[in-house]
Amino acid sequence: MVDTGLDVERIRKDFPVLSRELPGGRPLIYLDSGNSAQKPTQVVEAMREHMAMHYANVGRAMHALGAESTEAYENARDKVAAFVGAPDRDEIVFTKNASEALNLVAYAFGNPIGEDPRFRLGPGDEIVISEMEHHSNIVPWQMLAQRTGATLRWFSVTDSGRLDLSNLDELVTERTKIVSIVHQSNVLGTVNPVAPVLARVREVGALMMLDASQSVPHQQVDVAALGVDFLAFTGHKVVGPSGIGVLWARAELLEAMPPFLGGGEMIEAVWMDRSTYAPAPHKFEAGTPPIVEAVGLGVAVDYLSEIGMDAVVRHEHELTAYTLGALGEIPGLKVIGPLDLADRGGTVSFTLEGIHPHDVGQILDDNFGVAVRVGHHCARPLHLRFGIPATTRASFYLYNTTAEIDALVRGLHHVRKVFA
Ligand code: ALA
Repeated sequence: MVDTGLDVERIRKDFPVLSRELPGGRPLIYLDSGNSAQKPTQVVEAMREHMAMHYANVGRAMHALGAESTEAYENARDKVAAFVGAPDRDEIVFTKNASEALNLVAYAFGNPIGEDPRFRLGPGDEIVISEMEHHSNIVPWQMLAQRTGATLRWFSVTDSGRLDLSNLDELVTERTKIVSIVHQSNVLGTVNPVAPVLARVREVGALMMLDASQSVPHQQVDVAALGVDFLAFTGHKVVGPSGIGVLWARAELLEAMPPFLGGGEMIEAVWMDRSTYAPAPHKFEAGTPPIVEAVGLGVAVDYLSEIGMDAVVRHEHELTAYTLGALGEIPGLKVIGPLDLADRGGTVSFTLEGIHPHDVGQILDDNFGVAVRVGHHCARPLHLRFGIPATTRASFYLYNTTAEIDALVRGLHHVRKVFA
């Protein structure tokens, strides 16, 4: 096993699932963290403890438990704000997932109850995304374009899996209202260059959003340093629970945006014919929020901070280098994504000539206990761009080892033999 500087054996002890056996006695080799990460005992225990001993509704229950629960929920907001470098804790809005955070922002545009001209959208206005987006960062913008008559445009992807910025100035123009791109691709592993896109966005007076679902778990993300306007990610990919996502947005934008969902706790006052709204973030958190999930997410980001995101990045970088080297020796295997390690995360998607990814995944799982994701990974347009229906994807996290990659490689040689 290659030493990447991270005490992986100790880390693995925090994730009980990694030492369980699958039916038939196969060990579990979990290479699907890009889909959803496993959870450390610290997160599981904190959620259990909150549910068992402190649980009550938040922000509205005037009793001791209500105060404890509210404090824990709001503490989680502080932790998440610190984790992503948000200048103001009230810039953190808890949502259901990253998709909801992206939809929330898309819904603010062209919404007749909003008054800020930056969010006005209609025929002649443009929305810019890219060909490497997850469906979560495509469909909400398509729906927005349909609702408002605005035009949807997109960056292409180069053959090596990089964002094609050669037509940046033609694509992002005075007509552009919002550019929303993925920070780190869930298929290619590509980490996109934010600065040149943002510079152009500022030149034309548009706004910029990042889908950071795959970057926040795997690199140090600092929203202030990035300088964008909105950023979305999800809890379950940062070793936290599912059911909670995060929208970060600059405070003055949250103030200017109309609310998304209406309901309890997002209001200031309600009459029968009209309402006024609470300040952000509560304006965007209608109804009982994901309380226990927020507590879990707070502990998850503490867990990662304690290990250090720099160490996580280094570890995944080594694993990726090792994987690209090993996969390069398998005949008929083609990596879809950058082969160089610069600006690239630990997600490796590939095709095996003549073998459908579903068969690859099935054989890896059945015979070797290797869990990978197969299909289009909710990025169908990207697969169409490469002329393929699907890929097999191995995605790594802080608990993976080079020994597990060896098992993947043995499995792939076996798949080739089966189909020879
Ligand atoms: N869960 C999605 C994936 O696997 C985002 O990439």
